[in-house]
Amino acid sequence: MSITVEKTKDLFKKCFDFTLADEVKAQGLYPYFQPIDENEGPVVCLGGRKLVMAGSNNYLGLTADPRVKASSIKAINKYGTSCSGSRYMTGTVNLHIELEEKLADFFEKERCLLFSTGYQTGQGIIPTLVQRGEYIVSDRDNHASLVAASVMALGAGASQVRYNHNNMEDLERVLQKIPESAGRLIVSDGVFSVSGEIVNLPELVRLARKYNARIVIDDAHAVGIIGKGGRGTPSEFGLVEEVDIIMGTFSKTFGSLGGYVVAERSVINYIKHNAPSLIFSASPTPASVAAVLATLDIIRSEPELQAKVIANTDYVRQGLLAAGFTLLPSRTAIVTVLIADQMKTLFFWKKLFEAGVYVNAFIRPGVMPGHEALRTSFMATHEREHLDKVITEFCTIGRELGVIS
Ligand SMILES: Cc1ncc(COP(=O)(O)O)c(C=O)c1O
Repeated sequence: MSITVEKTKDLFKKCFDFTLADEVKAQGLYPYFQPIDENEGPVVCLGGRKLVMAGSNNYLGLTADPRVKASSIKAINKYGTSCSGSRYMTGTVNLHIELEEKLADFFEKERCLLFSTGYQTGQGIIPTLVQRGEYIVSDRDNHASLVAASVMALGAGASQVRYNHNNMEDLERVLQKIPESAGRLIVSDGVFSVSGEIVNLPELVRLARKYNARIVIDDAHAVGIIGKGGRGTPSEFGLVEEVDIIMGTFSKTFGSLGGYVVAERSVINYIKHNAPSLIFSASPTPASVAAVLATLDIIRSEPELQAKVIANTDYVRQGLLAAGFTLLPSRTAIVTVLIADQMKTLFFWKKLFEAGVYVNAFIRPGVMPGHEALRTSFMATHEREHLDKVITEFCTIGRELGVIS
């Protein structure tokens, strides 16, 4: 009897078959990985051309602030360019401790723990806290890093239920399904990253208390924008005490790289001694941490920056609404223009780029078909002429492509 052995499929077949990016490039419509030559904040230089940056998360414009740069340079001179190890072992310097203390104080929580990115922060919290027999309760529009963190927890035996985006009736429905004795963690963005919409935190907190759930809010896009002195979503609603865990990133308002979690002492202590993404990854560089120490001082001492970024974003939002564009609901520093067509989104992006306006194109797989959009975001350091240019180019191209009439 002869046995036919099927030829093993080459693992790389999917790579050889992946042609979409090359096809889009061939049409001159590829919007990603554009190399920036120089970055002043609101204006960037690409290929010898100046463009208004209307897609950065540098919300307060602090990456270009001389005080922030000087702080990083001073830290490099004192500690070198890397800690060359994890926080756990030899990678903790005084600056990490100083920043943890200052952030705990700023966010009005007992303790803070730093991570090397916001992405790793979610991975340090969710799979560490939610274990076999326990439940993650997740908004369907949560950031991809929270989704990835949840998948890690599921791999280790945790369970997950998801509720429709920011829909509190649906949240209650899924909470009711969880076995009464099982621990549960509600996970939500504070400000949703694609739309800029704010979570319905008062209702989320009410349900969490009713169904005995703990809460983690990822406030990546909220800090510096909403809340008292830019303290983010829990502060915006006066619910800092009620939100058990607040996490965020340094890659947006804080003008650096890294992540943080703030919570009560015992929770931080547990994460600190059990989170693989902390224990097995090198600590944030001295330069990154020193930049945040400087931006935190600026956020605290210059509240007018928060007012300015909100005013700048409102100005563009009003301009685009008046022109007839469909915008996703937001009152934060994000203005997302719905295009609802993949090719039109890419054409629109390309035309804006050629006209000197740099925004983000959101297409599949980042968003579902029919939800393709151009996401813009603004800085405290944008001037009126930059904002007017964005509005004017959007209107001209929008009419040309039939997005508005
Ligand atoms: C809501 C949210 N969480 C986490 C992250 C990840 O942060 P980081 O860039 O520090 O990895 C982002 C970044 O886009 C984000 O928008």
